[in-house]
Amino acid sequence: MSADITSTEAWTELVSHHEAVADRHLRDFFADDPSRGSELTVTAGDLYIDYSKHRVERQTLELLLDLARAADVTGRRDAMFAGEHINTSENRAVLHTALRLPSDASLEVDGQDVVADVHEVLTRMGDFSDRVRSGEWTGATGERIRTVVNIGIGGSDLGPVMVYQALRHYADAGISARFVSNVDPADLVGTLADLDPASTLFIVASKTFGTLETLTNATAARRWLTAALGDDAVAQHFVAVSTNAEKVSDFGIDTANMFGFWDWVGGRYSVDSAIGLSVMLAVGREAFADFLEGFHVIDQHFREAPLESNAPILLGTLGVWYSSFFGAQSRAVLPYSNDLNRFAAYLQQLTMESNGKSVRADGTPVTTDTGEIFWGEPGTNGQHAFYQLLHQGTRLVPADFIGFAEPTDDLPTADGTGSMHDLLMSNYFAQTKVLAFGKTAEEIAAEGTDADIVPHKVMPGNRPSTSILAPKLTPSVVGQLIALYEHQVFVEGVIFGIDSFDQWGVELGKTQAQELTPVLTDADGPGTDLDSSTSALIDWYRSERGR
Ligand code: F6P
Repeated sequence: MSADITSTEAWTELVSHHEAVADRHLRDFFADDPSRGSELTVTAGDLYIDYSKHRVERQTLELLLDLARAADVTGRRDAMFAGEHINTSENRAVLHTALRLPSDASLEVDGQDVVADVHEVLTRMGDFSDRVRSGEWTGATGERIRTVVNIGIGGSDLGPVMVYQALRHYADAGISARFVSNVDPADLVGTLADLDPASTLFIVASKTFGTLETLTNATAARRWLTAALGDDAVAQHFVAVSTNAEKVSDFGIDTANMFGFWDWVGGRYSVDSAIGLSVMLAVGREAFADFLEGFHVIDQHFREAPLESNAPILLGTLGVWYSSFFGAQSRAVLPYSNDLNRFAAYLQQLTMESNGKSVRADGTPVTTDTGEIFWGEPGTNGQHAFYQLLHQGTRLVPADFIGFAEPTDDLPTADGTGSMHDLLMSNYFAQTKVLAFGKTAEEIAAEGTDADIVPHKVMPGNRPSTSILAPKLTPSVVGQLIALYEHQVFVEGVIFGIDSFDQWGVELGKTQAQELTPVLTDADGPGTDLDSSTSALIDWYRSERGR
């Protein structure tokens, strides 16, 4: 375990460097160093990443890399890739990177040939998806499967939802996917309302197969199916994705129709495991293989690129720069692609369940803020909602802009002369430019603006952003984008000295919900052992429900 990062010399150096540069404006950074726009960039796989619009000098970047060295980021990275038990509080390896190793790679962990295991499941998934997509696998009445409903939550939902939407253009077999996660019955009822049980296949996706929301929804879905087609139909209409064969079998799904994964895959890192089955059914095994290859490209980049051109290390240390030194609370993620409209929601679990921790891996309290808050919406919708605060608010919100050269869809502009995609991307470029450089009072006054209106129109600028560009939103590029963020999370977690791979903070709420469920219906009502607020709230609820 490395020393608390805030007691290292690298940290102290950054503290005094921050004092020297914190008030400098991006306008000055660019004036002093005109080539930074083309030089402070990095290419990783198909991703072209411009980090020149950050409030850093070249020396800042060197000091941030010193910080990564002080935290032994590369040593910890190698330990992760080798399958060491770096998830110390659960004593587990962290090997989502093994899910995308090619079949001729070799990796043995805890005496097990991990690559062979991964590819055995991938082959079974591929064979199953071929059968469903070709119509060989039918529902109980002989009808083709038209809709796949994935029932899962958290990592067993957010990844598949996001990737399915991102790759909607690749869904080529007439199979669409829907997703049910919330224990609010409105989710399941709304999803099933217009579906025909005869052509619907359910995937019950749960790493533990013990998650209340998922098992409750799966049970309700099974009732919906058997009411229409009888009990025997379950075998043709339910498959499972889990690490827990016993519980899958207890639920009534034949383990021959179960696709497994392993305890070394964290839920939020699992879309590239069998948890991605709904995606594979929609887009096919080849596109899914391309998706995995995209992750692998970035894994290799993260492993091999020197620190100075290592995208996850550069972006992860910049995350630390803003959160720990500038006191920034959050990072906005702004995809200029409607197909990535669930990307921010996906990243919220990936980043915040991983790095929202208050103690270091050794149990001692952290001594700096951890866990950037991730949020965002696709541009241009966000521009007409919250960008006002990004541009003129008092808070510093670093932002990641993600855009593509080739559109997934395009249409002519209103006057018929241009491309709507070009219009979208001109917004992308304009926003990063205005955020960085703003507009001064002098410039605004020179346009003839009334003096009393000038302060309202001043655009302060100096708002940092990363620009991420890719040729097209392909399966590979989606994999690359996910891996880029997975590894940033890792870099930040190592610097903070926390365990990024456990999630104890979500457990207490789960157990207490189970304890309170009977209290909502019991004749006795809340007991005296409840706090007065919770007790009064439950009394109010019971009375509204006529209990
Ligand atoms: O809410 C916590 C969590 O454990 C997540 O980490 C996980 O992705 C989610 O619940 C779902 O868990 P499971 O896949 O076991 O149903």
